[in-house]
Amino acid sequence: MHKVTKAVFPVGGMGTRFLPATKAMPKEMLPIVDKPLIQYAVEEAIAAGITDLVFITGRSKTAILDHFDKAYELEAELAVRNKTALLNLVRNIIPSHVNCIYIRQSEALGLGHAVLCAKPVINDEPFAVILADDLIEAKQPAMHQMTELFNYYQCSVLGVMDVAREETGSYGIVATQAMTAVLGKIDKIVEKPQPADAPSTLGVVGRYILTPRIFNHLENIPFGTGGELQLTDAIAQLLTEQQVLAYRFSGIRYDCGSKLGYLKATIEHALQHPEVRTEFQAYLNSRCIKP
Ligand code: G1P
Repeated sequence: MHKVTKAVFPVGGMGTRFLPATKAMPKEMLPIVDKPLIQYAVEEAIAAGITDLVFITGRSKTAILDHFDKAYELEAELAVRNKTALLNLVRNIIPSHVNCIYIRQSEALGLGHAVLCAKPVINDEPFAVILADDLIEAKQPAMHQMTELFNYYQCSVLGVMDVAREETGSYGIVATQAMTAVLGKIDKIVEKPQPADAPSTLGVVGRYILTPRIFNHLENIPFGTGGELQLTDAIAQLLTEQQVLAYRFSGIRYDCGSKLGYLKATIEHALQHPEVRTEFQAYLNSRCIKP
């Protein structure tokens, strides 16, 4: 029986929707209250039992490497000032049993290309893909829900949710045969179809567990939508030889790749943050905003 121990984080994207904030800073380092998006994604992977984190990076992404590395000067300074809580906060971001592996994607040729860059370290194992833009708030972290399904079915699993028909052009859309209320066998997957052409309104969000066969397809598919190598197109090929499941995870997903989704996530997390929630709630009330 196979287990998922590796996760791929494609972090090479430019983040143009957040310019000028992302001119010199990776979009994955944008904070939701006090923690960068990429750390939420990494914590979700670690909670699912993943021990090898494979980051596919690009230009101007060194802040991500620094974030997960030891910060000697900062630690020394916090130790001198007896700031123990903060010291623990910066020291324990990555537990000692977890490895960070960085691969540089020299050209931004799409999500499929980013995943293909991970092939040399994934080899012949199933693996997770987590897109940090998609922040998922859930009692049991979404990737953990998915690894449990993988452990049982031993096949690829995609995280999906219902989207508005007018938004199908922003997602990979799947058509499924229902197995249970939350699980379906995928018959078809299309990248960003127009609403009229979409086979359903079930959209893939940034959580995937894939079998290593995906690499064969990524190596053979042509460039697709937007002139990019699309992961969705490779999954469409994978479907012809293996079962792929669509799973409606339980949890709330925030599209932090958009300003509105990012603001919603910030407000929801602020309302749960022990340090600021009471005053923030009072502030929202004073602005006549009832969350
Ligand atoms: C990517 C995928 C798409 C998926 C989406 C989820 O698109 O290509 O299939 O539905 O992530 O966030 P992107 O948002 O990077 O354009």
